[in-house]
Amino acid sequence: MTKQFAVIGNPIEQSRSPELHHAFAAKAGVDLNYKKILAPLDGFESTVKDFFAQNGAGMNVTVPFKEQAFALCDQLTERAKIAKAVNTLWMQDGKLHGDNTDGQGLVTAIQALNWSLENSRILILGAGGATRGVIYPLVQAGTKQIVIANRTLTRAEQLVEDLKDAVAQTELKAIRLDELTGEFDFVINATSASLSGEALQLPENLIFHHAYEMAYGKPSSFLEQAQERQVPSTDGFGMLVGQAIEAFSIWNGVKPELKDFL
Ligand code: ATR
Repeated sequence: MTKQFAVIGNPIEQSRSPELHHAFAAKAGVDLNYKKILAPLDGFESTVKDFFAQNGAGMNVTVPFKEQAFALCDQLTERAKIAKAVNTLWMQDGKLHGDNTDGQGLVTAIQALNWSLENSRILILGAGGATRGVIYPLVQAGTKQIVIANRTLTRAEQLVEDLKDAVAQTELKAIRLDELTGEFDFVINATSASLSGEALQLPENLIFHHAYEMAYGKPSSFLEQAQERQVPSTDGFGMLVGQAIEAFSIWNGVKPELKDFL
């Protein structure tokens, strides 16, 4: 029987998840159908329940429902608990399970570029949900230090306070975005600046050796500055594919290779 999957969000038209999952399925020989579901902003829970009541096998969750998905689950993976957000749902033994594969997607994408995370010092720009979701997988990949720089310092400080016990092996620090300085192996742009078309000015005295923009398919002043400095850089398409690979593997027990789908 064809397994039924979906991605749920609002808006949803822009999602590339159906094409990715259909491509993985074709390569792995899995019989599935994966559609987009536009849920009303006040109708996330009932839409999810209807989908699983009709024998849906699994769902991806995107903006703005990842925190609601987290709250709805009966069982959560460790990384979803730390992220406080869920992007992957499935039903098992009558219980709704939730995981967050975004951070591992980023790690997979970085490793596929042969950029080593082992003992690295990482600067993350932004302190919202996107940042929270990637900290634990970055730590597990062997990162030595993570500095979170945010326009609103208190938000970065709160994030450090929330996460420091869960990632005790890595040094976590918060700084103000406009006081950025120092040298880092990686800078990751997890602000929503590129999504809203706003510029992000990196100071001259900030030194970095790799740049990762989490957004994709949008002009990015962050990537332009990395390119001007001739620093190796990329947009977030690899992360998108990486998180989809993790979800596909949880649901279908087969792990597609990132390099086949970039
Ligand atoms: P997400 O879930 O995508 O992380 P979010 O929780 O709204 O979205 O967080 C957006 C992040 O981008 C925040 O860290 C925000 O900074 P503030 O906390 O100071 O608002 C950051 N951000 C958005 N636009 C920005 C800009 N133009 N310059 C710098 N930071 C920006």
